[in-house]
Amino acid sequence: MRILLLTHAFNSLTQRLFVVLQQDGHELSIEFDINDETTQEAIDLFQPDLIVAPYLKRPIPDSIWQHHICLIVHPGIVGDRGPSSLDWAILNAETSWGVTVLQANAEMDAGDIWAVVEFPMRTASKASLYRHEVSTAAVQAVQQAVVNFCTAGFQATALTQHALAARGQLRASMQQAVRQIDWQHDDTATVLRKINSGDGFPGVKDRLFGRDVFLYDAQEAFGMHGTAGEVIARSGLSLCRASKDGAVWIGHVKDKAHHHPFKLPATVLFATESQALHDVPGLDGYQEISYEQGGGVGYLYFPFYNGAMSSKQCQDLLAAYLEATQQDTRVIVLMGGTDFWSNGIHLNMIEAAKSPADESWANINAMDDLSEAIIRTTSHIVVSAMQGNAGAGGVFLARAADQVWAYKQVILNPHYKDMGNLYGSEYWTYLLPKYCGKEHAERITQARLPMGVSEAMDLGLLNAVIDGEKSYFVDAVKEKATALAQQTNIHSLLQQKTMQRERDEAVKSLANYRAEELQRMKNNFYGFDPSYHVARYNFVYKVCKSRTPLTLAGHRSRQALDLSRRAA
Ligand code: COA
Repeated sequence: MRILLLTHAFNSLTQRLFVVLQQDGHELSIEFDINDETTQEAIDLFQPDLIVAPYLKRPIPDSIWQHHICLIVHPGIVGDRGPSSLDWAILNAETSWGVTVLQANAEMDAGDIWAVVEFPMRTASKASLYRHEVSTAAVQAVQQAVVNFCTAGFQATALTQHALAARGQLRASMQQAVRQIDWQHDDTATVLRKINSGDGFPGVKDRLFGRDVFLYDAQEAFGMHGTAGEVIARSGLSLCRASKDGAVWIGHVKDKAHHHPFKLPATVLFATESQALHDVPGLDGYQEISYEQGGGVGYLYFPFYNGAMSSKQCQDLLAAYLEATQQDTRVIVLMGGTDFWSNGIHLNMIEAAKSPADESWANINAMDDLSEAIIRTTSHIVVSAMQGNAGAGGVFLARAADQVWAYKQVILNPHYKDMGNLYGSEYWTYLLPKYCGKEHAERITQARLPMGVSEAMDLGLLNAVIDGEKSYFVDAVKEKATALAQQTNIHSLLQQKTMQRERDEAVKSLANYRAEELQRMKNNFYGFDPSYHVARYNFVYKVCKSRTPLTLAGHRSRQALDLSRRAA
């Protein structure tokens, strides 16, 4: 069946649907919802059997839903309507929530219902819930809706007739006044719920050091107390602010009036003000990197916000990694974070730097140092264990390990080119052909498409898929890593690894790979072509795309090919 994904952006949910529906044997194409005419053009070109809209910011035009079945993925329970579904669910402390697939009609979110999947809520940010529970439920619901579409005689249920309709309701777009934190009277749980309800977007409007800001990335600050509302300490990237009954760490902040009006770490945006604050060391404060050990295995966690890794974060992680290699263990597992494993260099920090070109250079070198340390490790078997997605340099950093394990729902974006033709480093020119073969390496980098775990396994980007419930991922990894550490032939595995590294080095040294990649990166950062700087600016400032890239809009690339053939 031909399915057109009509979407505001190729976000994580759209990527997952793209991967899963293709795996189910459908022909997929993507069109960004830019205006009525381009959408109509896409439909004329692709002639879809079905249109699925996973992420829209405006209603589907009448001229389209009146002539095609358009299924909207709504991140809410049956009957829930409005643009702030998840925000309300978090703020109202709902214990369960859902995704409804409904047919577009004249009234927003009120069309006939094709499928519903519910899930238990978790205490987490909106973005985290969206990436995990909502995406998983949405994929199941869309798959069900597609089966229904193919079932003769299937009748979608009118909202008023639906057995589950009583609970949901029409809710307004959530205004800042609703989320506003009353620091004198809100307890820690309420503060966290408010910040979680707006994280990653739009954040909670607040005032810090006399400036209007938006807050993100909050965690309970255990053991911290102070006068309610006061900023009482700093730790790493975070500021600690007292609530009525405790305190929270605030990791990221946006000041729209600042000359860098995008999300930045709190202690970066308030660099001067935070100097005067009491500095709580990592172990008692806000810990971005943590290590634990057991059963001959060391586990390194690095849940960097949005998976972005600044120069300093790379250096800190390298130091923690080198320390892990000094321990009496046999295996090191690089755990990343729950939401992302890594998305490569920190584009916001680069954008905010005095010289973005210099900071890009420093950041990629810091990533390379880390990647190199992992590749050169011969004392341990190193495993990358992905609970969350990885993109760009993050994928190749993971591949620097001997084994890569990923949760079954992980999506990888093993390519750099979308960032203004960025060449990429992290030793990808060594790692990708080594694990996937030269031809596949070429195809992966050119295609610029997301891939699921089965394709990544077939290609050699992954070594194992971790099945089961997401909440058991860490336990499953620990079981597998412990078994690996206890393998009787571990010494011979390490010996083989050392010999293989020596052979690879003799063919072409790591220094050569690095020098060649960095030469190309130098052109990206300092050369005449500003594409990377423009693409990074657009990414950080969230400039909407004005057309669908041809790599995604298969219907348009086929048309372009036909035209060029005719011209030739
Ligand atoms: N640096 C800074 N922020 C990053 C980032 C990076 N490398 N990668 C992702 N983010 C941020 C996004 O800006 C977004 O921020 P928000 O919280 O304000 O919404 C958030 O992480 C989630 O990213 P989003 O693009 O919405 O996630 P996605 O799952 O839809 O897409 C990627 C994932 C990896 C395809 C996409 O984020 C991406 O292309 N990232 C850039 C990768 C890159 O080019 N890195 C540099 C080269 S190594």
